[in-house]
Amino acid sequence: MKIYLETMGCQMNRLDSELAAGLLRAAGHEVMADRRGADVVLYNTCSVRRHAEDKVHSRLGVDAQRKADGRRIIIGVLGCMAQREGEGLRQRHPHVEIVCAPGQLAHLPEMIERAAAGEPAVRLDPGRASPPDDAAAAALEQAEGGRDVACMTSRAQAYVRVMRGCDKFCSYCVVPFVRGRERSRDPGAIVEEVRRLVDAGRTQITLLGQTVNAYRWRQGDVTVRFSDLLARVSAVAGLRRLRFITSHPIDFGDDVLQAMRDLAAVCEYIHCPAQSGSDAVLKRMNRRYTRAEYDDLVDRARATVPGVVLAGDFIVGFPGETEADHAASADLIRRSGYKNSFIFKYSPRPGTAAERQADDVPEAVKRRRNNELLAVQDEVGLAHHRAYVGRTVEVLVEGPSPRAGRQPASAPGCVQLVGRTRWDHIVVFDGPLALADRYVSVKITDASSLTLFGEVSA
Ligand code: 5AD
Ligand code: SF4
Repeated sequence: MKIYLETMGCQMNRLDSELAAGLLRAAGHEVMADRRGADVVLYNTCSVRRHAEDKVHSRLGVDAQRKADGRRIIIGVLGCMAQREGEGLRQRHPHVEIVCAPGQLAHLPEMIERAAAGEPAVRLDPGRASPPDDAAAAALEQAEGGRDVACMTSRAQAYVRVMRGCDKFCSYCVVPFVRGRERSRDPGAIVEEVRRLVDAGRTQITLLGQTVNAYRWRQGDVTVRFSDLLARVSAVAGLRRLRFITSHPIDFGDDVLQAMRDLAAVCEYIHCPAQSGSDAVLKRMNRRYTRAEYDDLVDRARATVPGVVLAGDFIVGFPGETEADHAASADLIRRSGYKNSFIFKYSPRPGTAAERQADDVPEAVKRRRNNELLAVQDEVGLAHHRAYVGRTVEVLVEGPSPRAGRQPASAPGCVQLVGRTRWDHIVVFDGPLALADRYVSVKITDASSLTLFGEVSA
């Protein structure tokens, strides 16, 4: 069958989609980049904010219309929304025939068979209070290790999951409910997977986890910490860049910072969301650290890891957030000197602890605070990027920039290319397409708040 798979949300979902696409191809299906002509349309969904869910509901509304017009297509919902809404999804959208939770992806091929035979297929993960579904976890683990390298989008880089789920229960967050308990993967399987990917030409590996630095594997008396995992993975011959996202501030011990300093392959880049700069808000968010502890982490990182680059996440308009709390977040952005920050308006999520607090910051105030933090981050990001002007940096080229073709290139045979430094900066420069997936030296000549511009240096 021809299957169209659309991915929303975070990197974890993109990795899940890659996994799902591999399984579907192995089962003889064709996975297409275009929904026209598809027999099956699958959405791999995100529940982190309401807006993401609204988008899926509206897509499903359009699909219902198409089906009413007589098209025979199978519609499926995968991922976090599938788990969060479960059967409720089919009540609201009766034409949805597949509902598959994140932990059940290995069963997707057989679910498609079932739906094709006219029987709806729903597979949910057990709730946190129930015993884990070990069979589904083992099937997923096997699928993970057997990922088909040929199906991957990039020839130079790949993502590798080191843990699933989250046990932190930040009061605003739906992830612990939809992605389940925190479970680290066997370090041997992770190293094996990285080795296979590097052997197949991937030289940049990003380790993924909701709180990746909370990784912990116990084997008898031995505990493998995240810093130990970094050491084991970075020993894989041929690996040039090892990154990891996303970190939680409370799991950032000095051992991880020292590993970043001492292991050549580990990139000096930390995405470590603060969410707020105010102690009162951090407490109500159940983040388990104070502003002073976050400041201390930033200081320790800068003192231990030369040239370290930081990125953050913030939520504006959390229940009860005052102007003074908001000013504390702006101050934290300035103090931390982030390369970039993702800034979100608070969105109450059903079932979370914060949902029981009144969503009392008006939408207009959320919007203004969002814009104000973006403006501060713009200023800080510009200063950060400007400091690279004049330097020559190594760039892993991703391919033509989204603006390539709309802008005349500097020389014949060249296009506008985009790539990343080891510190995750976006770099735009002109060069031949053949540089895609290669490492090049680029001399930085200009900078904006989010991008470095330069030219290939001889
Ligand atoms: N509302 C707004 N933003 C949220 N995030 C998580 N939950 C919510 C929510 N309910 C943000 C956090 C997190 C990022 C992935 O999404 O900043 O780090
Ligand atoms: Fe959500 Fe907090 Fe877990 Fe991150 S650490 S996934 S914000 S609960």
